[in-house]
Amino acid sequence: MKLVKSIKYLNKILDRYRSDGFKIHLTPTMGALHGGHLKLVKESKKIKSIVVVSIFVNPTQFGPKEDYKNYPRTLKNDLKVLKKYGVDIVFIPIKKQILSHKTKYNCPQFAIEKRLCGKSRPKYFPGVKNIVLKLFDIVQPDTAFFGEKDYQQYLVIKKMTESLKLNTRIICVKTVRDRNGLPLSSRNNYLSGQEFKIAIKINKLLKKLPPLIRTKLKINKILNHTKKVLIDHGVDKIDYLTVLNDDLSIRKKISDKSRIFIAAKIGNTRLIDNIKI
Ligand code: PAF
Repeated sequence: MKLVKSIKYLNKILDRYRSDGFKIHLTPTMGALHGGHLKLVKESKKIKSIVVVSIFVNPTQFGPKEDYKNYPRTLKNDLKVLKKYGVDIVFIPIKKQILSHKTKYNCPQFAIEKRLCGKSRPKYFPGVKNIVLKLFDIVQPDTAFFGEKDYQQYLVIKKMTESLKLNTRIICVKTVRDRNGLPLSSRNNYLSGQEFKIAIKINKLLKKLPPLIRTKLKINKILNHTKKVLIDHGVDKIDYLTVLNDDLSIRKKISDKSRIFIAAKIGNTRLIDNIKI
């Protein structure tokens, strides 16, 4: 496994692989790796070729009062597991170099960026697009892998790739959950024992909703009731709990293209999840 920090050196290695006929697969991460990330890596390994994982805690996607400073950084362990998973290249860009890297692209803003997480985290999607575009420009991946847990992020990146006509195929990899149904997330590290118990309730309740929603009986009433139950269970704030079509457009009717989306705060930790109906 090669550990690369310089953009120039990475380009040199990747150019050589490309001219030898290899395809390049990229999994962008912010480190603090867990089973969800490793599933992305596993999927990328299925398509034989060079597997690149980037690790960079991107300051541009955090708001001023968010957790950039405290975001878990576990590089030593991350490198150990990536080696075990047979990753070829870990790209850990130098902060100054990647932030000043310019691309020829000017990415438009999409309407879906203003929904769900975009409402309470206005810096998030512009920051994600900014860094992912730089990573795509540097790595020129044939395929890039993103998790279904961050479904809105996956859609924004897919839209960006299509609108800029980039030659990268975007793949969405199914959410990995622990045995309690809690989706794996680096932010789960913040939860205390008591908060963890509260977090588990979110998925437990979410799972009960699809059959109720499919009956098409007063969906808003069902969602409002679920919010109340979650607050009663100790969730501090529900940012959103809603049902949208899977392209994030407003639902006119419930179909197999509908999804339930939730963002909730437990203490200072903001957790998100989504499931198909
Ligand atoms: O999902 C993440 O970890 C980040 O948002 C990403 C895609 C690596 C961009 O910083």
